[in-house]
Amino acid sequence: MSLLQAATEVRERAYAPYSKFKVGAALRSKSGAVFVGCNVENAAYPEGTCAEAGAIAAMVAAGESEITEVVVIADCPMPISPCGGCRQKLAEFARHDVPVTMATIAGERREMAVGDLLPGAFAPEHMES
Ligand code: THU
Repeated sequence: MSLLQAATEVRERAYAPYSKFKVGAALRSKSGAVFVGCNVENAAYPEGTCAEAGAIAAMVAAGESEITEVVVIADCPMPISPCGGCRQKLAEFARHDVPVTMATIAGERREMAVGDLLPGAFAPEHMES
């Protein structure tokens, strides 16, 4: 299954009763496996989690740590753009040149590299001594 299809399907399962804004994310890891996530909101608003965060958590729980490709999709007027926190989370596990496809349900697509979404990211390399 394509990442776009996987992200589209998981978006249907998003829990977004407060914003009504459902997001789906799918990523491929170095092994070729696909991991998906959707946003999960909470009555205590700041406790909600983004779709990208869910997909990353599933990848890490499966024992993987390198992302090679990402797709994010939502029903919005222009391709969904990962929030700042998700850009930082992606940068932790993806090389600068990893492509992120931002999509709309209506069929719009925009592709940017992780390094262009968050130039100069604080990354694991900074923690090396
Ligand atoms: N959201 C995501 O899941 N990913 C993003 O990159 C942007 C925003 C979610 C968070 C919240 O549940 C809803 O979209 C509205 O902000």
